[in-house]
Amino acid sequence: MFGTSSLVTLVLLLSSATALPSSRAKGPTLGPPRPSIPHLENFSKDIPVLSRNGTQLPAYSHAYYFDQLIDHMDLTLGTFKQRYYHTYEFYEPGGPIILMTPGEEDASGYIGYLTNTTINGHLAQELNGSTIVLEHRFFGDSNPYDNLSVQSFRVHTVQQAIDDLVYFAQNVQLPMPGGDQVAPGNAPWVLIGGSYAGALTSYTLTSRPGVFTAGYASSAVVQAISDFWGYFEPIRQYMPANCSADVEAVIAHVDFVIQSNDTAAITALKMTFGLQGLAHNDDFAAARIHKMVPMLTISLVQQNLFFSWQSLQPDSGLNQAFYQFCDALEVINSVSAPASGWGLDYALQAWGAYWTSTYYKQICGDDDDETCLGTYDSSSPFWTYTYTGNAERSWQWLLCTQFGFQFDGAPASQPTIASRIVTPAWGERQCGYRFPGAFGYNATASPDAAGLNSAYKGWDTTAEHLIFASGTRDPWREATVAADGATNIGSDLQPHLLSDGFHCSDLLIQEAAASPQTKSVQDIAVSYITQWISEWKPSINKQSA
Ligand SMILES: *[C@@H]1O[C@H](CO)[C@@H](O)[C@H](O)[C@H]1NC(C)=O
Ligand SMILES: *[C@@H]1O[C@H](CO)[C@@H](O)[C@H](O)[C@H]1NC(C)=O
Ligand SMILES: *[C@@H]1O[C@H](CO)[C@@H](O)[C@H](O)[C@H]1NC(C)=O
Ligand SMILES: *[C@@H]1O[C@H](CO)[C@@H](O)[C@H](O)[C@H]1NC(C)=O
Ligand SMILES: *[C@@H]1O[C@H](CO)[C@@H](O)[C@H](O)[C@H]1NC(C)=O
Ligand SMILES: *[C@@H]1O[C@H](CO)[C@@H](O)[C@H](O)[C@H]1NC(C)=O
Ligand SMILES: *[C@@H]1O[C@H](CO)[C@@H](O)[C@H](O)[C@H]1NC(C)=O
Ligand SMILES: *[C@@H]1O[C@H](CO)[C@@H](O)[C@H](O)[C@H]1NC(C)=O
Repeated sequence: MFGTSSLVTLVLLLSSATALPSSRAKGPTLGPPRPSIPHLENFSKDIPVLSRNGTQLPAYSHAYYFDQLIDHMDLTLGTFKQRYYHTYEFYEPGGPIILMTPGEEDASGYIGYLTNTTINGHLAQELNGSTIVLEHRFFGDSNPYDNLSVQSFRVHTVQQAIDDLVYFAQNVQLPMPGGDQVAPGNAPWVLIGGSYAGALTSYTLTSRPGVFTAGYASSAVVQAISDFWGYFEPIRQYMPANCSADVEAVIAHVDFVIQSNDTAAITALKMTFGLQGLAHNDDFAAARIHKMVPMLTISLVQQNLFFSWQSLQPDSGLNQAFYQFCDALEVINSVSAPASGWGLDYALQAWGAYWTSTYYKQICGDDDDETCLGTYDSSSPFWTYTYTGNAERSWQWLLCTQFGFQFDGAPASQPTIASRIVTPAWGERQCGYRFPGAFGYNATASPDAAGLNSAYKGWDTTAEHLIFASGTRDPWREATVAADGATNIGSDLQPHLLSDGFHCSDLLIQEAAASPQTKSVQDIAVSYITQWISEWKPSINKQSA
């Protein structure tokens, strides 16, 4: 049995950063996280796998390559090599083919999704299936072109990604006995995805019905939202009450001071956090300070600290940054604040002290504040590196053109733990720096979220044989079918399952031990999929035979 562990998004970001060329220019150290599914690393992926009858199969880490169409709208452009991983350790003829793409990441970190430590492998073990992890175009080793330029990104769209999944299923000859006879029609296919890839799962079953017999969409961010203040709502709702009361008080104060235009007060506020260097130049006039404002608040609040929440798996203990922060604000000499918190004065000083003594070092190392947290140097090559394998750039393209998902403060009518000074324009400006060929250097992007929601129905999809599994504590919840405002409650043919989990918790079998609700979601999902697979019949369409 393999030991596994879920590595968190923060760890993933840090490890992917080390893979970048060392000559890379400095830019913001930690951007908003990609919604990514949990990473699985700690298992034996490089030794032969044993099939049920004891035959040695290739190691899980053996990479295969599929000739994928560069452009599904223009076949004359030919193909590129799309990487995938595959095992048939539990396969028996007639069993389902279980396909997942990890979405916006290098797939080599997700080989564990072949194994029975995940819902994918668990289904394979129950149903005699075979599992596949297919890398998404423009991530990892799967690149239609050898660079990530705007020109190459002409074929980097959600529709091309959907068509990749369908074309793969219809044309792959799997490297296993009988693997050339398992196309949809001859064998049942199950599509699984989490997060962005969960949305792709829904979009694929919605727009290309009849290819996949069943879909499982975990924490699926189906509804594209440009102004995504809702990211902070589940955090605000589930964090310790004293901590949210004090964070709200500090943020209200930060916004008030900034909006007062009182330079001395703003500088003093920055000094509380040791970030006076962000206004690194006396020539920065009031207008310049204006530009610094969102940077200051987003770096204090959004860009770093709260993103550790997403990483919390109920049992992980791997990322305690969020609770360390609340302890720093709320605990004095082992005494916790009451639910109303300690109030602004203490919280502001305590947050400043925690930031300067502990947190700044963790996120910025030895870099100065401008280098680490500044986002206004549009001339930095950081923005325009086009080498392949730069997952952040490929993901940002999807945000800038289609999804939006800019994190910011809540509207004035709502309580907020994120500064209202920050608006979607903060991130959309950076789209211009990253992709001047598409938007212009000094222009902001206008992602077509409405177009995406219209094409693939967002949280109103009526696709059948599609399971949505969501977690109440997932910060992405408000983009899933479990959003507070969503009205589609699902049906027996489109079950909406909800647990107390975080982001994609239900993809990992080990999470069942931490949460009976997650266990229940997994059990119900398996029984639905088992039922749908048992009802599946081959279509008698042997024109190719
Ligand atoms: C998971 O699969 C491995 C073989 O890859 C097997 O040894 C193990 O018993 C399985 N775990 C469960 C819970 O069935
Ligand atoms: C990884 O697996 C090894 C061996 O199974 C185990 O000793 C170790 O504690 C695991 N590490 C984590 C982080 O789970
Ligand atoms: C054992 O399993 C492998 C892989 O599924 C298959 O190719 C082989 O024919 C099986 N051998 C026997 C004796 O069943
Ligand atoms: C899996 O394969 C075994 C051996 O062929 C068979 O007995 C069993 O019924 C199959 N299970 C399912 C769910 O098809
Ligand atoms: C980048 O890829 C495009 C194809 O999308 C190609 O035409 C162009 O020459 C490449 N640019 C560089 C600098 O290699
Ligand atoms: C207050 O904050 C502490 C530290 O995070 C936490 O352990 C405790 O549960 C909180 N209490 C209330 C009433 O919110
Ligand atoms: C601060 O400056 C902005 C922009 O010049 C202005 O709109 C706003 O009214 C000012 N606020 C105060 C409190 O003076
Ligand atoms: C962008 O705007 C800045 C400030 O207005 C200006 O100095 C710069 O030349 C502009 N860059 C481009 C490429 O238009």
